[in-house]
Amino acid sequence: MEEIPFWEETYRTRDINTFPAEPNGTILEFEHLLKKDSVILEAGCGEGQNVRYLAKNGYCDIDAFDLSEAGISKLKWLCEREGLNINAFVDDLSKFHFAKSYDLVMTFATLCFVEKDEWRHFIEDAKEHTKPGGIHIIHTFTNTVPASPDIAPFAVGLADEGEILDLYSEWEVLQFKTYVFDDEHPNVPKHQHAVNKLVARKKASC
Ligand SMILES: C[S@@+](CC[C@H](N)C(=O)[O-])C[C@H]1O[C@@H](n2cnc3c(N)ncnc32)[C@H](O)[C@@H]1O
Repeated sequence: MEEIPFWEETYRTRDINTFPAEPNGTILEFEHLLKKDSVILEAGCGEGQNVRYLAKNGYCDIDAFDLSEAGISKLKWLCEREGLNINAFVDDLSKFHFAKSYDLVMTFATLCFVEKDEWRHFIEDAKEHTKPGGIHIIHTFTNTVPASPDIAPFAVGLADEGEILDLYSEWEVLQFKTYVFDDEHPNVPKHQHAVNKLVARKKASC
């Protein structure tokens, strides 16, 4: 039987959060750099805790996509229930076509589920389709620790340590963090992930 990732099961439920319901702390930390009319994209948004937070706080031009139909269906349901306006759609990061430029592009714990040459291409494309002064928040799992059993069958593109930083050499790096953390989800035993997290701003000259 084909293995499916653990999040698919809880994306199909309406009463269990697959991931923490709070937005990622880095968004809270750097939100002051955004104007309310910022054009925002989240790739691999899942249930949308990050984009829902931003929409609740007055950001009105938000695109969010995920490969999972169940994830996007849940996000749309949550938006309807919470009266939020987010352009949520199913798409594949490895094939994503940028039709406009953004002030913020963000992705959390998603790149590693895409082949490395494909996610590197997505990053280069996203950089081109970011306005001068625009921000990227990129959170990616690295191969510093082996992929945990819950993601191992799907983690085809774990980054090398520091690889993401190298892709932003011509941008202003506002933050780079590298760490290993203990993680837990519904129906998944405790495990560890190694992370590189980068916040970078596009220079006017780029
Ligand atoms: C570990 S979950 C993280 C979800 C969300 N970013 C968060 O931090 O809560 C990984 C997400 O990546 C999505 N994903 C995997 N491959 C993808 C692809 N090729 N394109 C878009 N999303 C993808 C999955 O459907 C899932 O929602």
